[in-house]
Amino acid sequence: MGVAKKPVTAKAHTNIALVKYWGKLDETLIIPQNASLSITLDEFYSTTSVLFDDALDADQVTFDDQRLKAGQVTKISHFMDHVRQMAGIKSYAQIVTQNHVPTAAGLASSASGFAALAGAASTAAGLQLDRRALSRLARLGSGSATRSIFGGFAAWQQGHDDETSYGYPIDETPDWDIAIVAVILTTKKKSISSREGMRLSVNTSPFYPAWVETSRVDFETVQKAITERDFETLGHTAEQNAMRMHALTLSADPSFTYFNADSLKTMQLVRELRLQGLQCYFTMDAGPNVKVICRNSDADQIAKALQAVFGTANVRVTHPGPGITINK
Ligand code: DP6
Repeated sequence: MGVAKKPVTAKAHTNIALVKYWGKLDETLIIPQNASLSITLDEFYSTTSVLFDDALDADQVTFDDQRLKAGQVTKISHFMDHVRQMAGIKSYAQIVTQNHVPTAAGLASSASGFAALAGAASTAAGLQLDRRALSRLARLGSGSATRSIFGGFAAWQQGHDDETSYGYPIDETPDWDIAIVAVILTTKKKSISSREGMRLSVNTSPFYPAWVETSRVDFETVQKAITERDFETLGHTAEQNAMRMHALTLSADPSFTYFNADSLKTMQLVRELRLQGLQCYFTMDAGPNVKVICRNSDADQIAKALQAVFGTANVRVTHPGPGITINK
């Protein structure tokens, strides 16, 4: 096929984990300590275009219309080195990314970002990777990106090396009354990256071994709940799993948290709505924003209750979204 002469663009959606990935066994290859499972979201995504150019002496990255400085592209260039090595090429690339995600605030832009980059860069380099191979490549950029290759419900099997650790689809177009209400409490960059946060948790939380054990059970439970369309079990287990992940941050040394006052307020509101009979459950990633898992038929009512407190623009109703698309 050869290196593409025109830019190749890929679009990948972000995902929210119902069973979280929190901790690595291998930091270089990004092999996780546990399997994880997520929903890909229709509202939030990244588009990335890549063009390899022999005239460049370094990768050039434009991120949301801003040209990144040399020191800011290390992670991306390192990822591009994997692509160059796989394709047997030496040229650098022009990379342009647009994020339609509130960045670095726990809406996992690294998941959609690295999934889109994996798709665009590998195709631009002349590689023809199937979705499993794409997922393995995306993993080298960011663990959660393994799941953003796929739509709907997707999982990341733990595996034990580069070959065996990859994402796969569970149900890409679920016919189910389900929605995720995203409550965007801040778009500020998080103070402790998920990479650093999980490292601290693995190394210092005395509860870490219990996390590995219970997340395995949660994975089985949520997988079964998806098959059986058991919404209550899915929501309850996802909420428990999220709180156990966050308990690892609180029990780390030094202890830290991704919660802010508004996160706690949102959780309390969700509990109250639940007491009123609405089936809804919260989850949070490595940032203060909260996502509420609910019935699609209840989503507007739940969004209204949250909007009354946090403002209309900060509460968004999303649904299961599609997997990666690549335009040559
Ligand atoms: C809390 O995928 O951002 O969102 O592999 O170090 O890049 P790295 O971490 P990342 O971690 C995501 C953690 C999480 C849970 C999840 O998405 O499973």
